[in-house]
Amino acid sequence: MTNYEIRKDFPILNNQNIAYLDSAATTQKPVQVIDAVNRYYKNDNANPHRGAYKLSIRATEVYDEARKKVANFINAKMPDEIVFTRNATESLNLVAYSYGLENIKRQDKIVLSIMEHHSNLVPWQNVARRTGASLEYMYTNSEGRITNDEIYKRIVPGVKIVGITHVSNVLGTINPVKEIVKRAHSVGAIVVVDASQSVPHMKVDVQDLDADFLVFSGHKMLSPLGIGVLYGKKNILDQMVPFLFGGDMIEYVYEQKTTFAPTPTKFEAGTQNVGGAVGLSAAIDYLNKVGMDNIEKIEKNLTIYALDKLQKLDFVTIYGTKNVETHAGVISFNVNGVHPHDVASVLDSQNVCIRSGNHCAQPLLRYMGIDSTCRASLYIYNTKEDIDRLVQALIKTRDMFAKWIK
Ligand code: ALA
Repeated sequence: MTNYEIRKDFPILNNQNIAYLDSAATTQKPVQVIDAVNRYYKNDNANPHRGAYKLSIRATEVYDEARKKVANFINAKMPDEIVFTRNATESLNLVAYSYGLENIKRQDKIVLSIMEHHSNLVPWQNVARRTGASLEYMYTNSEGRITNDEIYKRIVPGVKIVGITHVSNVLGTINPVKEIVKRAHSVGAIVVVDASQSVPHMKVDVQDLDADFLVFSGHKMLSPLGIGVLYGKKNILDQMVPFLFGGDMIEYVYEQKTTFAPTPTKFEAGTQNVGGAVGLSAAIDYLNKVGMDNIEKIEKNLTIYALDKLQKLDFVTIYGTKNVETHAGVISFNVNGVHPHDVASVLDSQNVCIRSGNHCAQPLLRYMGIDSTCRASLYIYNTKEDIDRLVQALIKTRDMFAKWIK
């Protein structure tokens, strides 16, 4: 399938004349996903795990089916290694609370990359504050990359947790997760991978990466909002305490104490988001139909095209590596002398949707010496015409702000 064929499946892109370049924030949804969720609510909706009647059993089955689908998609060893959450942020908090707070001691170190999204950073600040452990960072070079030297310098004995984003949501850098995991394991640390910007865009194999935990959000990969995933190695999840307490995550409840259900149910308190899981399952079917290799190819071609076009605009500064081998379809840039929010407003007047601001990554931007950027992020339904519209709208911005352009 080509991106032009794919685009036809997305009602919002056909109903509205927009160049949607904010898929790193959330993606649009294909009709196949919208229909699957609709069908579920029309035909199969009930509370899973609780009812002995056929409808509830069906809801349980589709929920379990979705878990299997996710496990296969990222090559987990078994469905029990998949915990459904609300989103990547909740998954990361689960790890920080249930693993971090329980296992990290005062003398330990936590190491994160400076390019973490706040959701893989602030929870670890909380763990450091509450345990007395120290929190340190791996910094990027001038190209926005973490070098091997930096990995070896920062991940040393005493480090117990390493947090790394697979793909930066600001710079689009694809990080060397496999090397980081190898180094971390050699010093006895576990690794928490934020794969929010990679799982939707490339083949991710958790066994190959050997990640201990890996998280992502459904809504960034064509599925509805409100469903996310925590992958964890089974032996680690089994040893962890629950994060949220309540219905369904229990085995026996006594007046003074409770025993818990096995993994993954012990981490899924309350009524599960079955509709979300159904949507995620349909999204995975859609991505598999397009093919992850094909997805990578479509996005790589668009990234090369976009970088080439943007580089020709002498009033634009692009951040991060220009090496497309380590560059996913997320491009941060600024129009020299014009605030990113002003740029985004002019672009919006041309129906070009980008994100502007700090992208929930303030430490990275501060380290880079800037406080905000414009960000265009691509997905399988984007076309060269979307990028041409971005370029035309940027030229319009330059003309409107001519006297401020540096
Ligand atoms: N994490 C999302 C982004 O980078 C919201 O835009």
